[in-house]
Amino acid sequence: MNIVLGITGGIAAYKAPDLVRRLRERGAEVQIVMTVSAEEFVTTTALQAVSGRPIRSNLWDKEAEAAMSHIELARWADIVLVAPATAEIMARIVSGAAPDLLTTICLATEAPIALAPAMNHVMWNNPATQANRELLEQRGIHILGPDTGSQACGETGAGRMLDPETIAATVCGLSVGKGKGALEGRTVIVTAGPTREAIDPVRYITNRSSGKMGYAMARAAAAQGANVVLISGPVNLPPPTGMHVVNVITAQEMFDATHEHVGNADIFVAAAAVADYRPTHVASQKIKKSKETSRIELVRCPDILTSVAALKRAPFTVGFAAETQNVEDYARLKLEDKKLDMVVANKVGDGVGFDRDENAVTVLWRNGRQEFPAAAKSDLARSVVDLIAQNFQAAQGADTEPRLTVLSNLD
Ligand code: PMT
Repeated sequence: MNIVLGITGGIAAYKAPDLVRRLRERGAEVQIVMTVSAEEFVTTTALQAVSGRPIRSNLWDKEAEAAMSHIELARWADIVLVAPATAEIMARIVSGAAPDLLTTICLATEAPIALAPAMNHVMWNNPATQANRELLEQRGIHILGPDTGSQACGETGAGRMLDPETIAATVCGLSVGKGKGALEGRTVIVTAGPTREAIDPVRYITNRSSGKMGYAMARAAAAQGANVVLISGPVNLPPPTGMHVVNVITAQEMFDATHEHVGNADIFVAAAAVADYRPTHVASQKIKKSKETSRIELVRCPDILTSVAALKRAPFTVGFAAETQNVEDYARLKLEDKKLDMVVANKVGDGVGFDRDENAVTVLWRNGRQEFPAAAKSDLARSVVDLIAQNFQAAQGADTEPRLTVLSNLD
């Protein structure tokens, strides 16, 4: 993948060398284009060393233009990534102004553009910036993040650039360049994250799921051209772009949202850690401490995965199995008992599986299995979604084999 990486004048520019390294680790070629103000934050020497290519910044650099003009650069790119993206560059891209090399490439390229905003939270929340963000998204420009948290200026809020690993994984997961994704035009529903089952207005039962695996699966499916509906329990992750996100809290709400959308789905991926039980009775007031021990009666929650697989016109159904022991045996039992098309088995507990950036899985299906060793969930999700797409297409091929009607001359 050829990436033009635009770097603009924000303090987060110091992270650019790390971002370049992560993009190149994923096999991308990276051509850096800096704005004048970016050079206040990071040296061209560092960037040239890490990218292995001469840095471009000046539209009027005759020698560089002779080697590769701004139009050739715009054509060379499979994607133009601007990280960090200041409020000012967002405004310039919206207006179509092109006073420098980076904005000229943004105007001239036909490749997708992704921006990773980085600015003070007041600037990010400024109506002008938010209006620009909205316009850019309407034009199909990917807005990655921003994150929320403490900022270089000492204040706290939204506007922090996403970490380089997340940016690299997201950009490399986009289906860019020639050809279409393996799931082009297909509708994929993904459930992600935990659910919360109330005990009283203050307390609830939940689990350690962060949503990272499910979000990675959703992004990987979208990167393969699918229309994705992400049904998400309560998580602390930036909402992914390029898909429809439905936020839910309880298992029942996740069940209802799933069945609201499953009618149009080609594929259903159940990555969520859905509660198996909820309190039979939810107290209307906070339960006061009294005796030494207290008991809560629990009742089964609806099993979303089983209910989808049992539909008359069920989508291609992929479950996850989170086990602390006998992982593959229990997963294969789920595959058979729930009549799934595939199951993704992963070990959880002892600090693996939940809320980690990495995972290791074994994918099982009726007559096959494939192991995927520990890797970043974003990379793992891309491999698993590729495998799902292959099996889905095979199943489609089997199901849509032209029905041969043999006209017997005995009729
Ligand atoms: O979110 P992360 O922090 O990234 O962690 C990822 C993960 C460990 C949560 C994920 O990889 C995973 O294993 N998700 C499934 C967790 C789970 O509930 O596994 P299970 O074996 O208990 O459930 C089996 C399957 O039934 C799952 O597909 C689950 O979504 C589904 N299920 C379970 C209960 C229920 N009431 N309805 C369901 O649909």
